[in-house]
Amino acid sequence: MNDPGSTVPAATPRLDPDAAGLAEAAALLRSGAVVAFPTETVYGLGADATDATAVARIFAAKERPRFNPLIAHLPDTDSAVAEGVFDGPARRLADAFWPGPLTLVVPAHPGTRVCGLARAGLPSVALRVPAHPLARALLSEVGRPVAAPSANRSGRVSPTRASHVLDDLAGRIAAVLDGGDTPVGVESTVVACLGGPPRLLRPGGITRAALRAVLGHDPATPAAADADRPAGPGMLASHYAPRARVRLDATRIAPGEAVLLFGAHHPEGYDRACAALNLSLAGDLEEAAARLFEALRRLDASGAATIAVVPIPAEGLGEAIRDRLARAAAPR
Ligand code: TXA
Ligand code: MG
Repeated sequence: MNDPGSTVPAATPRLDPDAAGLAEAAALLRSGAVVAFPTETVYGLGADATDATAVARIFAAKERPRFNPLIAHLPDTDSAVAEGVFDGPARRLADAFWPGPLTLVVPAHPGTRVCGLARAGLPSVALRVPAHPLARALLSEVGRPVAAPSANRSGRVSPTRASHVLDDLAGRIAAVLDGGDTPVGVESTVVACLGGPPRLLRPGGITRAALRAVLGHDPATPAAADADRPAGPGMLASHYAPRARVRLDATRIAPGEAVLLFGAHHPEGYDRACAALNLSLAGDLEEAAARLFEALRRLDASGAATIAVVPIPAEGLGEAIRDRLARAAAPR
């Protein structure tokens, strides 16, 4: 790895989700190393958010081309609120959804500990209190905000189990805390509360309907050139991309394609597919979100040149699923 100052072993150890594993992961993070850990959405690639050298190691490990702003993770609402300036809607959203798969972009508190590199020099800060018990225990033990993008190589499919992290990053990071499969499976919903109506920057684990129920209205959709919406990785047109081409809303399968199914309906030509996986036979969008990234990885491993995806409804978590699939399908 191109950072001789970091403590990266040749093979990345997998730490057990027990007191010893947590203590080791926390000690590594406090020493400036990069450690992957489970959240309820996807595995995060964590580093001490107060230490720019540690944060720089995240970008090096991911081979992320640019210094995009990262989410700072905190163990509880009180410690998160101390890092930013929360207006009424921001506070209502925090109270309703933290801990949980919501990220709030708010003005950075003048005394924030989150370093400039983690914020990409912006006057705002992205904050999240994850619900995963291991993440919360780890964050409590570290005692500092932890910056964490998804623990995959830049542009690749997000990891929902420790083996995905190791597939992409073994030998490049200090450790992965193994918490098994992540239950939600798509990243957090990102909402900007920077004065004026809250804006939905990225659909995710908290649905639009759930936001509406708390805000009393739909979140605003930012314009493409919105100044508060930096072209972060999860917002690039091509992202979450498997090696195979991805073809959306497929109603007919061509010979040799891999197919990603949803529900009990089989598209025409289904029997000619070289591989098939069902996100949810029952048509359950939560189940589908939890399986999405693992299914993309497995169909990619089939070697098919194209993954055809049947239509998935846009309601509920379907909005986030369709968002990720559209980015996986975008021209590269
Ligand atoms: O579920 C998740 O959010 C996962 C887990 C690990 O917590 N993390 C994650 O991080 O998805 P990442 O880096 O892949 O996505 C962070 C998103 C990006 O789209 C970024 O542009 C946006 O948050 N973001 C961060 N800081 C921002 C800021 N100050 N203003 C606007 N957007 C910001
Ligand atoms: Mg990501």
